[in-house]
Amino acid sequence: MGFAQRHLLGIEHLRPEEITEILDLADQYVELNRRDVKHSDTLAGLTQINMFFENSTRTQASFELAGKRLGADVMNMAMQASSIKKGETLIDTALTLNAMHPDLLVVRHPHSGAVDLLAQKVNCAVLNAGDGRHEHPTQALLDALTIRRAKGRLHRLNIAICGDIAHSRVARSNLILLGKMENRVRLVGPPTLMPSQISEFGVEVYEDMAEGLQDVDVVMMLRLQRERMDGGFIPSEREYYHRYGLDADKLSNAKDDAIVMHPGPMNRGVEIDGTIADDINRSVIQEQVEMGVAVRMAAMDLLARNQRAHRATQTAEI
Ligand code: NCD
Repeated sequence: MGFAQRHLLGIEHLRPEEITEILDLADQYVELNRRDVKHSDTLAGLTQINMFFENSTRTQASFELAGKRLGADVMNMAMQASSIKKGETLIDTALTLNAMHPDLLVVRHPHSGAVDLLAQKVNCAVLNAGDGRHEHPTQALLDALTIRRAKGRLHRLNIAICGDIAHSRVARSNLILLGKMENRVRLVGPPTLMPSQISEFGVEVYEDMAEGLQDVDVVMMLRLQRERMDGGFIPSEREYYHRYGLDADKLSNAKDDAIVMHPGPMNRGVEIDGTIADDINRSVIQEQVEMGVAVRMAAMDLLARNQRAHRATQTAEI
């Protein structure tokens, strides 16, 4: 059975074969995106609406470009300026948009679970572009594609996810995906930034960077998410950098060919040293951005195919 989803709400709903199918198709879109003429008519005639209730630079730009390269009509709703400010609920906004017959709705929201709720109220495909601390599925997929292309495989790798795990939907989606694909994942960070239900994930947890990075193939750094912190999770940024900031010294514990990742936006000199981030021999941070467009094209293409099939069966039934 191929990719069978109607929405892309979280990695937790995907089977390993579905993950592989998205990544295989994304590889083809990487080729398209490297051509002079980056265009296909795959989504021609379809309407994609991007609703971002939280700030975003790269994710929103990436979804917009992905839709345009596939020929969709793409609209960005400026949610700050919308009726939300006048007190309209998320569901009312969704129903209003739904009445305009979109085919793909891309949603980012500060509350965990908000995107799932919205998906129940509309009859188009919904893609989660990040909901609170819950999931950020396209980020985990683009990270997976970046790893697979750099390492030649996406299984039996030692991967360290480091830093502010507790507030990170990127960490959560990656943990689930990398686990499903049978990798060994370690979490590295201060106990104050580890989620309380950590034992559920069956991963190794380290407080010390040198130990945690020992012989890993992939070092994934995370941003300190101050906007989700309501108090003193770290003593000071200087102290945090000293203990957890990725520099050449700490990285020397990883394998010689280990790659360095970061979802962006980066705080240079807080969680990562600028020289490491810019080191083209180690850092794949720019590749992550490139893979992001391709993965989003693949996900929207597959969802649109399922939607067409679904609508065809509904019409046949009438
Ligand atoms: C991440 C996010 O928004 O969750 N960024 C992103 O999508 N590129 C991570 C972060 O904000 O730190």
